[in-house]
Amino acid sequence: MAASQLTGMSSYIKQSPPLDFGIPYVDSWVKDRTIIVTGGASGFGAGFARRWATNGATVILGDVDVEKGDALARALRNETGRESAAHFVHCDVTDWQSQVNLFKEAIRLSPHGGIDTVVANAGIQAKDRLQEPGDLSAASPSPPNLATVDVNVTGVLYTTHLACYWLPRNPGSKPCNMNSVPGKQTRDRHLLLLGSVASLAPIAAAPLYATSKHAVLGLFRSLRATSHLQGIRVNIILPYFIDTTIVPVIAKVALAGGGMGKVEDVVEAGTRLVADTRILGRGIVVGPKMNVKQDDSGEWHLVSKNEQGSTKTALWEVHADDFEEVEVFTRRVVKLLYAVELARGWVGWATDMLTLVRNQIFGQR
Ligand SMILES: NC(=O)c1ccc[n+]([C@@H]2O[C@H](COP(=O)([O-])OP(=O)(O)OC[C@H]3O[C@@H](n4cnc5c(N)ncnc54)[C@H](O)[C@@H]3O)[C@@H](O)[C@H]2O)c1
Repeated sequence: MAASQLTGMSSYIKQSPPLDFGIPYVDSWVKDRTIIVTGGASGFGAGFARRWATNGATVILGDVDVEKGDALARALRNETGRESAAHFVHCDVTDWQSQVNLFKEAIRLSPHGGIDTVVANAGIQAKDRLQEPGDLSAASPSPPNLATVDVNVTGVLYTTHLACYWLPRNPGSKPCNMNSVPGKQTRDRHLLLLGSVASLAPIAAAPLYATSKHAVLGLFRSLRATSHLQGIRVNIILPYFIDTTIVPVIAKVALAGGGMGKVEDVVEAGTRLVADTRILGRGIVVGPKMNVKQDDSGEWHLVSKNEQGSTKTALWEVHADDFEEVEVFTRRVVKLLYAVELARGWVGWATDMLTLVRNQIFGQR
């Protein structure tokens, strides 16, 4: 099978075309949406909340930090003059019942009784002692602290499961559609995940954080293949180091002199993905803003801002051509699997089905 025949896969999984950051979007497209943001009390979550509440959305902040979350929700109601602009709900994402409560409260507080967007943003980077077994003369090591995995993986999986339940129930929403007209489609069904550059690259001395964020990327890539069957669009943001409280001081020291990204650029990426209902299955890396130019081989170079043909950007689309030509391993394997299926034909299908039925009835494997 020719590679070109596989390009149909992105339409099969309903992935929208690679992002063009030159295409404008309008902030007010988020107006009237009800948006849950876990970890919404500070950092990116607070940035998302401010931008979306200011533009007419109802933002439900779920966080363990009651003081900051409550203060932010109050401030946003005052600043916008809208009672429905923002609400705080205490939520520990590692606790299933706590997240169930967050979603139920969101439904109760939502002006239209539904949830349009869920942002699985809560995340931590606890001290990573995975490679430090402690006293080597002890009879056995004590277990590692997996808090990072609890929040960044279990918490995100709970959020995802609840989103899969509530998003399709959003009254008046239609299944996601890359040909939708964003300004007209007020009801949405969108799950936005927060990965990291640690989803793509190893992070020395922080294997737990890197593991957790690799898991989030795996979740995204799996979900986006089938979430359209529930009419849900799924996207992901993968920030580089951005100056918030989650970045340990030691990392800030190590990064001194290099570039750190800005919360406002993460908020920009998130707002594009949330506002524009045409975007399905896409991932944006957010780094420090820089002036760059691409050469003929596709390599990017740092250039001065006056250089002809240069662009200033903090946003990059990663896996732009997934399910098309670039993901060579997937393409090769899928090509072989198709070839096997074709070679075996209907006889192969019937044999497999008979074996399956027989095993189900007689309990054989
Ligand atoms: N800042 C970065 O450099 C960076 C880079 C890549 C990815 N990220 C990811 O972005 C997301 C947001 O991070 P941030 O930089 O805004 O960090 P932050 O520390 O400023 O905000 C995280 C928020 O999550 C909340 N939280 C922590 N544990 C929670 C729990 N169990 N239940 C509910 N809320 C909880 C915190 O109270 C806080 O308000 C995280 O998933 C993080 O891993 C951050």
